Amino acid sequence: MPESKLNVAIVGGGMVGLAFAIALRKLGPDVTFSIYEGATELSEVGAGITVQRRAWQTLSAIGLEEELLNLAGCREQKSVGYVYRKSDQPEGIHLKTIQTSEPGYTFHRGELQKAMIRHLASTHTIHTRKRLVSYMPLEEGVELHFHDGSTARCDILVGADGVRSAVRSAMYTKLADAALAAGDEDSAKVLKSHILPVFSGNVIYRTLIRKDILPEEAAQHPAFNRDEVMIYAGRNRHLVAYPISQGRVLNLAMVFTAPGKEGSVYEGAWTSSVSKEELVGRYSGWEPDVEEIMKHVSDKILKWVVNVATMLPTYSDGLVTLMGDAAHAMTPHQGAGAGVGFEDAHILAHFLAHPGVTKDTAAVALQVYDAVRRPASQNVATLSRMSGRNLHFNLSAGCADLTEEQSASGEAISPDQLKEVGDAIGKLTEWMFATTVAEDREVAMQKLEVALANAAR
Ligand SMILES: Cc1cc2nc3c(=O)[nH]c(=O)nc-3n(C[C@H](O)[C@H](O)[C@H](O)COP(=O)(O)OP(=O)(O)OC[C@H]3O[C@@H](n4cnc5c(N)ncnc54)[C@H](O)[C@@H]3O)c2cc1C
Ligand SMILES: *[C@@H]1O[C@H](CO)[C@@H](O)[C@H](O)[C@H]1NC(C)=O
Repeated sequence: MPESKLNVAIVGGGMVGLAFAIALRKLGPDVTFSIYEGATELSEVGAGITVQRRAWQTLSAIGLEEELLNLAGCREQKSVGYVYRKSDQPEGIHLKTIQTSEPGYTFHRGELQKAMIRHLASTHTIHTRKRLVSYMPLEEGVELHFHDGSTARCDILVGADGVRSAVRSAMYTKLADAALAAGDEDSAKVLKSHILPVFSGNVIYRTLIRKDILPEEAAQHPAFNRDEVMIYAGRNRHLVAYPISQGRVLNLAMVFTAPGKEGSVYEGAWTSSVSKEELVGRYSGWEPDVEEIMKHVSDKILKWVVNVATMLPTYSDGLVTLMGDAAHAMTPHQGAGAGVGFEDAHILAHFLAHPGVTKDTAAVALQVYDAVRRPASQNVATLSRMSGRNLHFNLSAGCADLTEEQSASGEAISPDQLKEVGDAIGKLTEWMFATTVAEDREVAMQKLEVALANAAR
């Protein structure tokens, strides 16, 4: 074992924290790390996840390719298409198809997370029941404070602890206090606004439909036999459906907008189990695919209030930094949140493995990480938010006052406007195909080199 040049604490064993740990182990044999997870055991919600081009590039880079292809039931790489329709009327209208030859997959979250845990288990145990409550910067390094009263030390603290991140709230409490102490009340107010996440305006109902228990006739219905990710859009709500677990299960996300509620604080539970009753009728009159699917929704539905952490002014403070949802919890309208987190993990692992990054220069590396990853991830968050509006026919001019009834009549939105919506879907997702993760990493590494050289002067 080479001597450890850096000791990293990863708070949060979600998919992003795990991806970071796997990358660190692979790239930086002289970087040691510990993972602290607040829950009793690692788990994921019973729902699907899409892994698109860039996310796949990061997961292949850390050596998960073969295992994940097995999970997906593919012998070689395949791609997944995205089909968008206007469906809140008896006869749906095709809006856009996004089909590339680039690899893309859909997984059951639990299966994906388990594959990552298996990968790490040979060398690392994850410390569970270690809920971080706060941290304290020391003369050298950082001290972590856990809910059970214990403490730990590290050279670098990485908060991968999700939308309700304790690392983010501790960081922004400290930054706000410092601004206040310097007499800058305006900055303090802004900094304080980032301590807690805010409501995105979207509530999502997530459920799975097992195909093997469907009546024969339904199981044969095209709605249950599409390979693509289907996005059935309508005014103020849409439905996303795609197969997971090698086609045995249909994953559903029913997405609703609460107009005018974006940016507020959501009162009430953020997740809860609800019965089918809460959804009955909310897609009636939609095109046949949707009506067919809704007939077979079970009573195991998870209501998920989407909260977001938007536009943080920094991801890094001293030897502490944020990644994944802790840094940029976003709406899921591009199915990109975890993927963007994997990219954070990819870049930071490469940075920390760089020979020039030591205890003395760690803070410099975290500054460059912030400078590179913040604009990139916040851009995706912005595009995702716009995608949500677009899918609810609330992006193009002249649609602001459209009612659900008008939209359902199929006449209120002109063919030109529909074309605009379809074109916007393409434009908003162009970033996914513009560059590769490796190209962006090259640019980031150059920035790191420059910053390290400047710091050495
Ligand atoms: C409906 C929906 C659909 C989505 N679909 C997609 C998709 O198709 N593709 C995609 O890429 N993304 C998608 N996303 C986004 C994706 O789910 C998230 O971006 C991703 O799960 C975030 O991972 P994370 O590891 O950053 O956070 P989390 O998964 O939230 O993990 C955080 C971990 O930290 C732990 N933790 C929390 N607080 C503490 C603490 N104080 N101390 C110690 N541990 C702590 C938690 O227990 C948890 O294990 C979707 C999101 C939603 C809501
Ligand atoms: C349309 O989008 C704007 C901006 O996000 C929002 O303020 C408004 O409430 C939305 N309208 C509807 C009907 O969702």
